[in-house]
Amino acid sequence: MKRYEVLAADIAASIQNGTLKAGDRLPSVRQASASRHVSPSTVFEAYYLLEARGLVRAKPRSGYYVAQSARALAPEPDRASRPDGEARPVVISELVAGILRSATSRDVVPLGSAFPSPWLFPLKRLGRATAVAAAELDPWKTVDDLAPGSKSLRRQIALRYLIDGVQIGADQIIVTNGATEALNLCLAAVCKPGDTVLVESPCFYACLQVLERLGLHAVEVATDPREGIDLDALEAAIVRHRPKACWLMTNFQNPLGSAMGADKKKALVELASRYGVPLVEDDVYSELYFDNQRPVPLKTFDTDGWVMHCSSFSKTLAPGYRIGWTSPGRFLREVAQQKLTTSLATSIPSQLGIARYLERGSHERHLRELRLVLRKNRDQYIEAISHFFPEGTRVSRPAGGYFLWVEMPDGTDSLALHRTAMAAGISIAPGPMFSASVDFGNCVRINFGHPFDARVEAALETLGRAAGTGPIASCRPPASAGA
Ligand SMILES: Cc1ncc(COP(=O)(O)O)c(C=O)c1O
Repeated sequence: MKRYEVLAADIAASIQNGTLKAGDRLPSVRQASASRHVSPSTVFEAYYLLEARGLVRAKPRSGYYVAQSARALAPEPDRASRPDGEARPVVISELVAGILRSATSRDVVPLGSAFPSPWLFPLKRLGRATAVAAAELDPWKTVDDLAPGSKSLRRQIALRYLIDGVQIGADQIIVTNGATEALNLCLAAVCKPGDTVLVESPCFYACLQVLERLGLHAVEVATDPREGIDLDALEAAIVRHRPKACWLMTNFQNPLGSAMGADKKKALVELASRYGVPLVEDDVYSELYFDNQRPVPLKTFDTDGWVMHCSSFSKTLAPGYRIGWTSPGRFLREVAQQKLTTSLATSIPSQLGIARYLERGSHERHLRELRLVLRKNRDQYIEAISHFFPEGTRVSRPAGGYFLWVEMPDGTDSLALHRTAMAAGISIAPGPMFSASVDFGNCVRINFGHPFDARVEAALETLGRAAGTGPIASCRPPASAGA
């Protein structure tokens, strides 16, 4: 993002959160230029951009003012979920598979997708690194680098932990086929069929699918849309259900976007250690933060080894390479055993390609650019949803990742909305996908990892109209498009 875009985004955020109100005067160009350490022409560019977006207007010889028509943003969800606290077997895969299957076409506007735009990744640079690594591959590596994985990649992952102040040796890391395999192996290492696992409410649907596959019971625990899982409710559930594990996300939770503060993370790890409950930490989004610093993982506070940290490169660098990892603390041996008996190893050229790319040192720059794009998308999507969705809609304000959680007015049926939207060429992720009790019927998760263009804006307008029970127009390109 250019400097004037950053300035414009900051002012737009102040308008949207109510700090600047309709009719307020913006700082003069001279003031803004001095306080932001940018040139007057940068300030002018920012003000022109805000004017073009209808957020401010110029009064001749007087300055720039917040427009009367500047859009007020929909408020954030502000109530923690209230699940019933019962343990239940999970039956979700059919619903999830049906919804995911319906949204695989490139013609669909991918608001329900779990992936950001593939064009946000340095695929050429990564491809070149992989080609060189594969060409130079020592044939013995195919034996050396079986589970737990390539030494050079594990060293790079350990270095990334170190940057965040977490001391994890390369020998405590197991490379996996994406975070999905890491999470599966961790759960399989500590649970057997019929056991109970605590999950957030709502939680990522793949977590529920893993529980279903392993024959585990889920207990959904109250979760705050900003601060994550409720620790009192969690402790009560531990005492009542004696779970074999707890699966959760403390950084930019999917789907809520919630982020837990460091003190609460420490308290959570202490709680798990006190009761001896393994914490399976799904941490795939923490590098996509929008504030100044990467939020720390639970692993930072893990003195007793109860945290099984899982992550991957799928969301930040290499979608499709299927490279993830886990650092499973005291369960290292059990997880390594699971890896050997399920997939044996992880693709060696992919591991070596990513290791070589990371060694070249341009990854931080790529991440900085990626975060700026996602942050800008977030603001544009929130603004559009606030404008198009019915009165009473609430939208999350995630400080990272690329999902918005949208609570529509009570009575809205997001599964019906999904069907109507699909007919118009738009995918969404309806709330019931994220709950073992098929709750959250009035909610949807919206992916903002794709550029906010005219097609996305039209799709959000169409959805908003449909959510308000109006007619719905097709967002599919005409049959001749692209021919
Ligand atoms: C919260 C969460 N965990 C795990 C995954 C899976 O990651 P991977 O693609 O590395 O298997 C995803 C992907 O959508 C996700 O959103």
